[in-house]
Amino acid sequence: MNKIVEKYAELPKSVRRPLWILWHNMISSFDKQKTAVFMNYGYAGDNGEFKELKLKSEDEKDRYSIQLYDHVAGGDKLKGKDILEVGCGRGGGASFLARYYMPKSYIGLDISKKTTDFCNKYHKAKGLKFIKGHAEQLPFGDSSIDAVVNIESARVYGNIPKFFQEVFRILKPEGKFFFADMIKPKDIQFIDKQLEKAGFKFVRKNNIRENVVNALRLDTEYRKERIHKGVPKFLHKSFYQFAGVEGSERYDAFDKKRIDYWSYTLSK
Ligand SMILES: C[S@@+](CC[C@H](N)C(=O)[O-])C[C@H]1O[C@@H](n2cnc3c(N)ncnc32)[C@H](O)[C@@H]1O
Repeated sequence: MNKIVEKYAELPKSVRRPLWILWHNMISSFDKQKTAVFMNYGYAGDNGEFKELKLKSEDEKDRYSIQLYDHVAGGDKLKGKDILEVGCGRGGGASFLARYYMPKSYIGLDISKKTTDFCNKYHKAKGLKFIKGHAEQLPFGDSSIDAVVNIESARVYGNIPKFFQEVFRILKPEGKFFFADMIKPKDIQFIDKQLEKAGFKFVRKNNIRENVVNALRLDTEYRKERIHKGVPKFLHKSFYQFAGVEGSERYDAFDKKRIDYWSYTLSK
């Protein structure tokens, strides 16, 4: 299982979707308190840049994952806009952006129905809802969405170029694509080329690998504590890998620069 988690993005396309659905089902059954609402590696600034990000007390436990969303898509740019998030997972990021930055509507989309059902029940904010869907066939009309958010999800899609084309198609003119994911150094040129080919203009592009490593280091104890509380012992190693805790192969890959983590703002 540990190897499957580590090499997930390299598995044949046909098995990736069922495996994600299985993984979601496992998390749903282990998360009895319904508190596991993020599935990303997080972001921590080097220079205290987040001192000013004031969170409600109930959000503090997810600070690093929230900071990743804030870095990628936070701020006034969502206010009053129609937003789609693709690969929203358990909805923590969607809920944070909808509650703190007041878009007109925010739709979270994911391939796991169990997860979008959970999100619709658990997360409440004005204009926020969740639907089951597929990143490569977005169920929206041409030029209908102001901004698309996509965090730590795209690298596992069967056809990334098709996903970028779909995002471009549904965005309004000047619409924004807030995109972040881990990317191997050898793949970055391919990704940039595909974004360009889809028609995007680059507004901002940052390698945030160091911020991700910082967040994982600072959050390791908490991540382990939650795994120990909810997950059966024989699966601890697989969940350490998934959560990227210090000592896991995934943490090491970031720390030793075998994988980078890029964050983009793109414009139609
Ligand atoms: C690592 S999780 C990240 C979730 C969320 N963005 C977060 O930061 O907490 C990746 C998510 O992408 C979803 N996903 C994977 N393939 C997908 C696809 N083809 N279409 C839509 N969602 C997909 C998975 O179900 C999972 O919820």
